[in-house]
Order: sequence, then structure tokens, then C-alpha cells
Amino acid sequence: MNISIRPEQPADIDEIYELNKLVFGQDNEAKLVDHVRQGSNFIPQLSLVAFSDDELIGYILFSQITISNGDYRHLSLGLTSMVVHSDYQKRGIGAKLITYGLQKAADLGFTDVFVFGHEYYFPKFGFLPANRWNIKPPFEAPAEVFMALELIPNALSNVSGIVEYPIEFSVM
Ligand SMILES: CC(C)(COP(=O)(O)OP(=O)(O)OC[C@H]1O[C@@H](n2cnc3c(N)ncnc32)[C@H](O)[C@@H]1OP(=O)(O)O)[C@@H](O)C(=O)NCCC(=O)NCCS
Repeated sequence: MNISIRPEQPADIDEIYELNKLVFGQDNEAKLVDHVRQGSNFIPQLSLVAFSDDELIGYILFSQITISNGDYRHLSLGLTSMVVHSDYQKRGIGAKLITYGLQKAADLGFTDVFVFGHEYYFPKFGFLPANRWNIKPPFEAPAEVFMALELIPNALSNVSGIVEYPIEFSVM
């Protein structure tokens, strides 16, 4: 299977919506992606599509978030959304999207990434529970599902606080 990954183009947007709607069985996630795309925290280079030949079969979106602690603000990145077509799951396409996205994020100068996600999946890529840095989500959640990854060693050593999700996320 020949998988290629590239940043989204305008012509992909409807297909990304439909892929999210299909895999999730409703369109909350699809709407979230559209909202983030229209907001100021969207980074076009980190909205990535995966193709098998000409078919769009995967998508990943990283967008800007902030960790705040009093007056202190740390600019970071959230893995906002990720989906692989049901017919293509468990073949490493999700892993390819994450690995590609993390490298692009590092190239763009981001130092760390946060995710809410499966605690058995994301640690494979180096994500660890964010509470080890005393960084918390803005709502109650099991500690193991809120994770962070340092793209640069010790990037989070002097960071603690609460993650602020931008207003675009209120669609959820
Ligand atoms: C979560 C999701 C994006 C993962 O995508 P994926 O392409 O299936 O991911 P991968 O193939 O990299 O890994 C999935 C599993 O397949 C396994 N796998 C990877 N390559 C494989 C291969 N060549 N052969 C067999 N298994 C493989 C992985 O080890 C992993 O195993 P695990 O389930 O025990 O962790 C996809 O399942 C999905 O779209 N789910 C619904 C949407 C969703 O929940 N999104 C939110 C994610 S937080």
C-alpha cells in the first residue's frame, strides 16, 4: 500500500469532513475541525491528509493551545483531531500521520505537544501523562488520558499550569 502524506488543500476540506462523519458516526468531530480551521490557532502545515493512491483515508490536525499559570503563558500544540478510514485502520497509517506531524511541528519550532487520547496508543510515540509536569486539563479527566510529549528534551521542565483550549473547541 502506497501511503502519501501532505498538508491539506482547499479541495480536501469536504472529504475531510465526510471522513470524520463516516468514522465517528456523527459530525461533532467534523465540525470541530471546521471551527479550528477558521480560527487563529489553525496552522495549515499541521493539518495533514493521508492518501492511498488517490483516496483520502486519513487526517490529523494539530493546533495551537496555551498553558497558563497566573500571568505566565506557554504556547504549545494540541493533537486536536485524528482519524483513519475504518477499512484502513490497524495498518500503521495513524502512526505515520502522528510521526510525520510531530516532525513538522518540531520543524516549525514547537517544543511540546498535548493530547487527550487512548492511553495504550499515544505512549508508543513518547507521550506521557501530563500530570508528571503538573500540567492539568481544564476539566476533570482520568490522568492517563491527558498526555504530553516533549519535542525538545526538558521543554516542559519549567512549565506547569492549566491547558486553555481556544473558543473554537466549544463546538464539542
Ligand atoms: C485511532 C486511529 C486514528 C488509529 O489509526 P490507525 O491507522 O488504526 O493506527 P495504527 O495502525 O497506527 O495503530 C492502531 C493499531 O494497529 C496496530 N498496527 C499498526 N500497524 C500494524 C500492522 N502493520 N499490522 C497490524 N497491526 C498494526 C498498532 O500497533 C495499533 O495497535 P493497538 O490498537 O493495540 O494500539 C483510528 O483507529 C481511528 O480513526 N479511530 C476512530 C477515530 C478516533 O478514535 N480518533 C481519535 C483518536 S484519539
